[in-house]
Amino acid sequence: MKLQNAIAAAAILSFAGTMSFAQDDNELSVDGQLISTEADAPAHMENVGTVYSGWRFRSEDTQAMQMDDFDNSGFVFVDDGLSLMASVDGSEGKSCASCHENVEDFAGLKAKLPRVNDSGELETMEELVNTCRTERMGAEPWKYSGSQMTAVTAVIGLQSRGMPIDVAIDGPAASFWERGQELYYARVGQLDLSCANCHEDNYGTMIRADHLSQGQINGFPTYRLKNAKLNGVHNRFSGCMKNVRAEPYADGSDEFKALELYLASRGTGLSVETPSVRN
Ligand code: HEC
Ligand code: HEC
Repeated sequence: MKLQNAIAAAAILSFAGTMSFAQDDNELSVDGQLISTEADAPAHMENVGTVYSGWRFRSEDTQAMQMDDFDNSGFVFVDDGLSLMASVDGSEGKSCASCHENVEDFAGLKAKLPRVNDSGELETMEELVNTCRTERMGAEPWKYSGSQMTAVTAVIGLQSRGMPIDVAIDGPAASFWERGQELYYARVGQLDLSCANCHEDNYGTMIRADHLSQGQINGFPTYRLKNAKLNGVHNRFSGCMKNVRAEPYADGSDEFKALELYLASRGTGLSVETPSVRN
């Protein structure tokens, strides 16, 4: 790291403290349903032994909000998502519900995404939704991380709550996964920091007033207290890149999709928590 960058990083970062959790209990209980917030790291992770959900690093107040769906403001948006799915839109006169009558049928999907489709492309939940809109409804695609998209992907993700993340990273997924890994370890921006510098080397420490987590994505879309709405996963990547003064990739870009696959694989075994509550 160049000296100038090191000084800038030190001023912004000042990592402090040792590994600690707001709550050492690894069981997150949501309305009686037990959700595991740690797992043995998958074999491909060389520098980390245990993976932890971001929930473990939040304050007890923030944790409590996620333990009761009534207190979890993400559910206001889940309700919006359910209305959107029942609304007719586009030239074919159809709603999502015309073809997907029971949202429960989406159970398990979130735990397996992103995945490679029959055409060899890596596809995300947002893309699956927009494909149905453009090709099956004759409707305009939704903005990748916009409010309609996060509301509907929260409804779909919620159907997998409690299920372990288990994405395919071999076969046709391997090259995307390798690209994601490369991006995770690449130092970027004026501060010359990689995702790993914060989320692998320093999780558990404080960065200013924030308790650094492993940057897991099992809870997305996430309700953030900071902006009082649901936030898509690429939007979060973008925010972290801006924080190190890097030019972020676009939401829905090949780079962010590859990074998403790689990060999902780093959370193998963690439960889907959609919609989680974070700072
Ligand atoms: C005209 C019928 C139709 C409409 C309307 C429709 N879909 Fe689909 N959708 C399908 C079909 C067919 C598939 C592919 C087969 C399957 O996996 O069920 C699919 C697949 C999906 C998938 C991937 C499911 C999986 O397990 O791979 C998602 C997610 C999805 N649709 C969401 C939506 C949403 C959200 C809407 C409304 C914005 C919508 N769909 C509207 C017919 C439709
Ligand atoms: C300067 C340190 C820093 C860097 C570098 C950084 N982040 Fe973060 N990130 C944070 C902080 C602080 C938070 C909020 C607290 C937390 O959950 O760690 C956060 C949160 C996150 C979250 C949300 C976790 C959750 O549980 O909701 C994800 C995902 C994430 N980062 C991904 C990334 C990715 C991908 C990169 C690389 C492109 C990256 N971050 C780079 C500091 C950083």
